[in-house]
Amino acid sequence: MKAFLCRRYGPPEVLQLAEIPTPTPAANEILIRLRATTVNSGDVRLRSMDLPPGFGLLARLIFGLRRPRQPILGTELAGDVVAAGTDVSSFAVGDRVFAFPGEAMGCHTEYVCLPADGPVVAMPANLSYEQAAALSFGGSTVLDFFRRARLARGERLLVVGASGTVGTAAVQIARHLGVHVTGVCSGANAELVRSLGAERVIDHTREDFTRLGDSYDVILDAIGTASFPRARPLLAPGGRLLLVFAGLGGMLLAPWHSFISGLGVVAGPAEERIAYLHELAALAAAGTVVPVIDRAWPFAELVAAHRYVDLGHKRGSVVIRMEAAPDPSAVDSPG
Ligand SMILES: NC(=O)c1ccc[n+]([C@@H]2O[C@H](COP(=O)([O-])OP(=O)(O)OC[C@H]3O[C@@H](n4cnc5c(N)ncnc54)[C@H](OP(=O)(O)O)[C@@H]3O)[C@@H](O)[C@H]2O)c1
Repeated sequence: MKAFLCRRYGPPEVLQLAEIPTPTPAANEILIRLRATTVNSGDVRLRSMDLPPGFGLLARLIFGLRRPRQPILGTELAGDVVAAGTDVSSFAVGDRVFAFPGEAMGCHTEYVCLPADGPVVAMPANLSYEQAAALSFGGSTVLDFFRRARLARGERLLVVGASGTVGTAAVQIARHLGVHVTGVCSGANAELVRSLGAERVIDHTREDFTRLGDSYDVILDAIGTASFPRARPLLAPGGRLLLVFAGLGGMLLAPWHSFISGLGVVAGPAEERIAYLHELAALAAAGTVVPVIDRAWPFAELVAAHRYVDLGHKRGSVVIRMEAAPDPSAVDSPG
């Protein structure tokens, strides 16, 4: 099968298309033929080692000192089950699924094996493969931060970076929860963010959201412009700051900032839970969350997709469309 391998950290051109053995499912695993995946901020951060301040060494210790230990990037996918291990009863050949290996990655390839009780869930029937592939990365992050913030109906939420993958999921899920959303995005994305449910939009190219005298119960920062010192004056008593993007300093200081201010400061990697995927599938099936897709690229052009995501201006998700891969048994011998 074909896979893009990242054998060293660097620009998009480090990614190389290679032929590798198609995996064979173990007794408790399913083999998925991918129909779509994404290139997201997690992929480009790992590939480039362009990380929030302070995370360089820590990330290399976790993901690989000189090159990623997992050479196949890609955090999420949608596809078809094409084989199932002998112990698998929850999925059958032909099922349409989406999956979120998340930090374990491995989705920029034609076939993936996953445990049947792992981060894989039946695809909502109303979504395309491209939409289903774009459901997990932003949605799961948002569900985790909202859970930790105990976001409640009627609260006022500011989403900084409302047009990105995380932001577009945050606006839609918050609206569903009955939260009043203000989105910070560029003027070009204002209509999109309004259409997702934001009652108000602040154009970050014209106004500084910290200088408008507004007050919020919760601020979610997916960009890094709402650090604790800047965000604190905007938070109402009992307010919470969700630092989806934070440097190591901001993350380590979060408990201290919470302690001295009486506010809640939440930072660090989002927990990846299978329950979130079920929740997202239900939200998508109900039409409450519709993944926003900037554009789709063919698998062969994955390097170009990385170049585009590197620019930092995508709206929602960048999707990779897989060409119809041949039957796995006809590709090569199992490895
Ligand atoms: N903590 C975690 O577990 C976790 C999980 C997922 C992601 N993250 C991090 O969260 C961040 C966001 O991820 P993402 O996938 O949503 O990113 P993304 O999709 O790449 O975000 C890009 C969007 O941000 C907008 N933007 C750029 N500068 C802005 C500014 N100053 N104010 C408001 N909007 C701005 C861009 O539009 P314009 O340029 O047109 O404004 C674009 O629409 C990343 O840094 C990622 O590493 C953390």
